[in-house]
Amino acid sequence: MELAEACYVPVRWSCRSGVCHTCECGLICGSLKYDPEPLDAPAVGNLLICCSRPQKDTVIDL
Ligand code: FES
Repeated sequence: MELAEACYVPVRWSCRSGVCHTCECGLICGSLKYDPEPLDAPAVGNLLICCSRPQKDTVIDL
C-alpha cells in the first residue's frame, strides 16, 4: 500500500491493520508475509495490501 501511494496509484483502505478487508485485491504471482497478521485471512488468491510485505517479485491486481 505504501508503494502504491508513493506512486500515486489510488488504493482503497480503511483500517490499515488487517481488520476491515477494504484493501483486499488479487495476488497474481509472488509471495508475501503479513506483519501484522490479519484478523481473518483474505480469500484464496487474494491479499491485503495494507499489512503485507512482498518476499520476492510480486504482481498484484489493484
Ligand atoms: S485496510 Fe483494512 S484490512 Fe487493509
